Formats: sequence, C-alpha cells, structure tokens
Amino acid sequence: MNSFINVGVIGCGTISHVYIENIVQNYKNLRLVAVSDYFPEKAKEVTEKYDFVKACSTEELLADPDISIVLNLTIPMAHYSINKQILNSNKHVYCEKPLALETDEAKELVEEANKRNLMCVSAPDTFLGSGIQTVRSLIDSGKIGKPTGFTANMTSSGHELWHPNPGFYYQKGGGPVWDMGPYYLTALIYLLGPIEEISCFATSGRPMRNILGKMQQTEVSTHYTAIIKLCNGATGTVTMSFDIWNSSLPLLEFYGTKGSITAPDPNYFSGPVQFFDGEKLKDIVDRVQEPHPAKVITMIENTESCLNEIDLMFPFEPTHNVNMRGLGVSDMAVALLNNRKSRLSSDLSLHVVEAMQAFDISASSGKPYKMTTTCVITDPMDKNWKLWEVK
Ligand SMILES: NC(=O)c1ccc[n+]([C@@H]2O[C@H](COP(=O)([O-])OP(=O)(O)OC[C@H]3O[C@@H](n4cnc5c(N)ncnc54)[C@H](O)[C@@H]3O)[C@@H](O)[C@H]2O)c1
Repeated sequence: MNSFINVGVIGCGTISHVYIENIVQNYKNLRLVAVSDYFPEKAKEVTEKYDFVKACSTEELLADPDISIVLNLTIPMAHYSINKQILNSNKHVYCEKPLALETDEAKELVEEANKRNLMCVSAPDTFLGSGIQTVRSLIDSGKIGKPTGFTANMTSSGHELWHPNPGFYYQKGGGPVWDMGPYYLTALIYLLGPIEEISCFATSGRPMRNILGKMQQTEVSTHYTAIIKLCNGATGTVTMSFDIWNSSLPLLEFYGTKGSITAPDPNYFSGPVQFFDGEKLKDIVDRVQEPHPAKVITMIENTESCLNEIDLMFPFEPTHNVNMRGLGVSDMAVALLNNRKSRLSSDLSLHVVEAMQAFDISASSGKPYKMTTTCVITDPMDKNWKLWEVK
C-alpha cells in the first residue's frame, strides 16, 4: 500500500510557490504529480524547477487517474466552478479560501462531495499549527473555564502594498472579511464551536484604490465591525479592515470564567501564546483580609505575575515562523491512508462561507443574521505528528 497520496495543483500564482515547495520538499505523505494554470507558462515555470512534475491543461490534470487530491489555488472568483469540476472528476478538493462566494454554492459543493464520498474543504490550515493547537489544548483542558467572550481584529491598510496582482482583493470575493476572515473565523469556530448569530455594520473608506499605478474602483466593503454570538453562548466583537493604518487592538483573544488567552496571528502557523490565570489572581486577592482598597492594591501589584507565556506544542517545527501551508492537505492524506476523518471538514468550510456572507447580509439589511449551517469541532492535532521532513 502507498504511504503517500498524489496531488495536482490548479493555479500557479503567488501562494502556489510555498505550497509546491512544501509538498515537494517537506510533506512526506504527498507527491506532486501535475500543475496547471490559466496561463500555461506559469505551470511550465514550476516544471523548470521540478522536472518530475507534469505541466498540463486543467482538463488533462483532472483526467489523470493517478491524482487523488486537487489543490485549487486560483483566485476566489474561480473557486466554485473549479471545485465543481474537481468533484465531477471524482477527486478530493483542497481549495484556497474561500470554498465558494455564496452559501448556496458552497452547500451544493458539499452535498456533491458527500454524495461521492469525497472530501471538499478549504483553507486555511494555519489552525493546525502549533499556535492555535496550543490555544486549543488550553481551552480543552479548562484553563479559561467556561468561555464567555472573544475579540478578533484584522487591521490593515490593504494588500495592494505587497501583492503583485492585487486587483481581486477589491472585487467580489475580496475585501477584508472574505480574504482574511477565514483565518479568524476558522480558528474561532475550531476552538469554541459554531456560530449562532451575526450582526454587522460595514463601510468603505476609499472608493478608488491605487492598484499597480492605476486607480481601480472598490467594489466591496473594506471596513467591517461585527458582533458574533456562538452556539455555546459566548459573544465577541470582530473588526476586519483594509482601512486601518495603525492599531493596537489584539488580533485574537479568548475570555473565560477562569482566565484569558491571547492567541497568535491566526494567519500564521505559530507565534506566542499568552495565558492570564484569573484563578491565581483571585486566590492571591482572596487571601487579603483587609477591606476593599487593600484588595485592589494587591490585585494591581500581582497582575503581571499571573500572565504566562505558554510553551508551544509540536516542538518538531523547524522554526517559529515557518510557513507550513499544505499541512491541511497532509492531514487529508493521513485521513485517506488511514480511513479516518480529516481535521479540515467540509461543514467547517461551509459554515465559514455562510458566516462571511452573513457579515454582508447583516450590514446591508441592518438586521442580525441567524446562521442556517453548523459544524462539529474536529480533533486536535496528534502530538506525535511527524510528517514534516526536518532536514
Ligand atoms: N498571496 C497570498 O499570500 C495568499 C495567502 C493565502 C491565501 N491566498 C489565497 O490563494 C488564492 C490565490 O491567491 P494568489 O495570491 O496566489 O493569486 P494570484 O493571482 O497570484 O494567483 C492565482 C493564479 O491562478 C490562476 N488562475 C486564475 N483563474 C484560473 C482558472 N480559471 N484556471 C486556472 N488557473 C487560474 C492565475 O492565472 C494565477 O496564476 C486566493 O484564494 C487567495 O485568497 C493567497
């Protein structure tokens, strides 16, 4: 029996480089067989670097019987139709975020995948990295007690500052919620469970953006402020913006009856995790016999001692900031080879698409949006996971 799964890549643009490098060099259970792109020369460039990989048309790639999982790394507007083609070719889908641009389309894909007994999931897979996994173990072990709240804040002035082809960020499927929301929402749902309701306001700071020297119309909202209620009762605030030049807001924090967690940037696989032990502070303060002012002073003096940097799980990571994109595909391969469920689930990808659409629907209707989809929280990573080749 094979100990690896053959994969194909559609879309050889900016993000494909790290995926391809990781699949070829680092993920022991994945083999890259073929690549395609709308512009054939982009696929050819990959084969110049890796001559064992086949550059072909998307149709040829989908007809290759050796390929089991297809990575759809095209732009968001192309995701739904390409995902549909992949499923119709009886292959598993790993799509860059988002799975589709409409809840109905994402539902249709998931239904089709279920009918065919295929996996159909979308990025991100950053939540499988040591950062969010460490947060998961803290929450699961009851360190913060009953989760009551959270905040998620993605603040930036826009991707045109760095992306070589940034036009799509200001068209349907772009904007801060559809582009960066998947990292924050996926981490949130994976850690605390599905969303019940979303209320949102949205606006657009700049109607025109300078895209590669040409002014382009902004077709999407670029500044969102939302309130989310989770099915477990916890509530939180979310800011997603391409209109903020500077901010000191935390990226992602969780609050519970016993403590708080400051999570690392969910756009990365790792980063510092801080835990504030409210129980420890409570014990210190409760030991003070004097009346109120002495308790306040004790609390202020001892607050810092209750904040701990937590050792990250998965010490096998080569370095702290390594970009492990493809980890979710590697997990899909483990699932296929061992006949178990993948940690990226179609229901999670669909729930995230509905949540993002809920931001827009609530903002345009002025009403809260009740979610119609749900998902179950998938397993934490296996502590003995060793599929990344440490060279
Ligand atoms: N750039 C990043 O840092 C980054 C990070 C994380 C996720 N992503 C996500 O990855 C996806 C791709 O982003 P990117 O930055 O690589 O974009 P990109 O524009 O650099 O690359 C997209 C590639 O897909 C190809 N393509 C488009 N439509 C196609 C079609 N119908 N058939 C075949 N090929 C097609 C394009 O020719 C291009 O080579 C997006 O969903 C984005 O949200 C990007």
